[in-house]
Amino acid sequence: MNKEVKNEIKKRRTFAIISHPDAGKTTLTEKFLLYGGVINQAGSVKGKATSKHAVSDWMEIEKERGISVTSSVLQFNYDDFCINILDTPGHQDFSEDTYRTLMAADSAVMVIDASKGVEAQTRKLFKVCTMRNIPIFTFINKMDREAMDTFELLDDIENELGIATCPVNWPIGSGKGFRGVYDRNEKEVELFFDTKKGTTQGEMKKLKISDPEINSYIGEDQLQNLEDDIELQDGAGAGFDQEMVSNGKLSPVFFGSALTNFGVETFLKHFLKMTQAPLPRMSDAGEIDPMEEEEFSAFVFKIQANMNKAHRDRIAFMRICSGQFKAGMDATHIQGGKKVRLSQPQQMMASERKMVEEAYGGDIIGIFDPGIFAIGDTLTTKAQGFAYEGIPTFAPEHFARVRQVDTMKRKQFVKGITQIAQEGGIQIFQEANGGMEEIIVGVVGTLQFDVLRYRLENEYKVEIRLENLPYSFIRWIDNEEIDLASLSGTSDMKKVTDLKGRPLVLFVNEWSIRLTTERNEGLKLSEFAR
Ligand code: G4P
Repeated sequence: MNKEVKNEIKKRRTFAIISHPDAGKTTLTEKFLLYGGVINQAGSVKGKATSKHAVSDWMEIEKERGISVTSSVLQFNYDDFCINILDTPGHQDFSEDTYRTLMAADSAVMVIDASKGVEAQTRKLFKVCTMRNIPIFTFINKMDREAMDTFELLDDIENELGIATCPVNWPIGSGKGFRGVYDRNEKEVELFFDTKKGTTQGEMKKLKISDPEINSYIGEDQLQNLEDDIELQDGAGAGFDQEMVSNGKLSPVFFGSALTNFGVETFLKHFLKMTQAPLPRMSDAGEIDPMEEEEFSAFVFKIQANMNKAHRDRIAFMRICSGQFKAGMDATHIQGGKKVRLSQPQQMMASERKMVEEAYGGDIIGIFDPGIFAIGDTLTTKAQGFAYEGIPTFAPEHFARVRQVDTMKRKQFVKGITQIAQEGGIQIFQEANGGMEEIIVGVVGTLQFDVLRYRLENEYKVEIRLENLPYSFIRWIDNEEIDLASLSGTSDMKKVTDLKGRPLVLFVNEWSIRLTTERNEGLKLSEFAR
């Protein structure tokens, strides 16, 4: 295999950042970029003074609600590594987007607010992480504020999330009494200086715990507390085990304060050593190992239209799994069965998108999509094509009937709603024998309804009326031959078909599902489409 390509791939570290909103994900990302030399001033990612949103956020709705609806990718170099950060939406209603993004990541960084511990959304997003068994690294943020007790925080993670923890460093105090962190391995203290929200990379001073100079920074009581804590932790806590980390069974924990730039670089350095270069991925032709497979291959994990209002474009984001990508190259789109030219490749960089000439296994690129790609599709230059494992869709739990207000705008309505469905933000269904004037939309989180309404109005100039429906369960019918009309069940169930014409039923409760199964002999129902 080409040595240069292999070396490039070995340098790649591709990870996702997850957190409950406000824990400090944006601030941490911003500091990473600062170390990577991508930005030279903190605040470039999130223009705090002027607006409440980050570069990765692009929709007005995000600004209005102060949440991140979409994910984005940022790339930078640090210490001979080429890092791809995948930002994920913090809100649980968009956890499906997070799941797709995690499919493209090799590890995840979980940011936790030290004063709050594990929060509702952390729990949900974490669950999504564990579905993939990827390594999870914890950054406990905001140590410059009063924090929960360290043991309590670790217990919280272990109990709430069911993952063992291994603190790599240990905080000395918190809030006004925060003095820094103790590196358990190196047995040295990294002292905390409040550099404020400064534009510098922070003041840095390290002292061995045995160095008498330490007494001029840390009081005797605090040193004694630290000694006691470490003794307790050494005796009771899990030791570091790289294999457990790699399997997502043990999370290395770091403490710091992203805002004051404390502990961020230490975290980055350790993290880059503990996380992995791009790993093999499963396909229908067996595992594809980026260290062995010479040919280019990638899969689409996200599709997004209208990112740029001036050019009504549609971009397919793909994770390159093996080989080298060159702008304008041809590759086989496996699911479409055709050769396609991969044109206008781009990457997100801080506040702008830039064109890329080449990229390697581990990288994420966005490709112009003329409307042919679907989530999960594979592209490769390998003569004997193969397809990567698909990306499952979540079962929607909320349903609404959607009607266009102005029936003259039927074309835009159908185009818009189909487009948004193809991006994976919503699923759409038609009533058996129904037309497209009135359709049923299913979502995982109700905020997705707001996004749908907003996007239809702003991008397609179509006003809609949403009428909530009482269904909570969806079941596709697995039987090859079925006459949907003759299916007997309960009066409150709804028979519909999906975009591909597959029959399914929406149910109000599980009792109704049971009854329907009993009433129709041989009926096979499943939560996911075949
Ligand atoms: P998110 O992306 O996870 O939603 O969080 P974000 O980085 O936007 O941070 C949320 C708030 O927490 C911000 O304050 C940010 O400045 C603050 N913050 C982040 N890291 C730290 C930290 O280490 N220590 C302290 N004390 N605060 C931190 P904000 O009030 O929303 O914005 P601003 O008014 O400070 O600009």
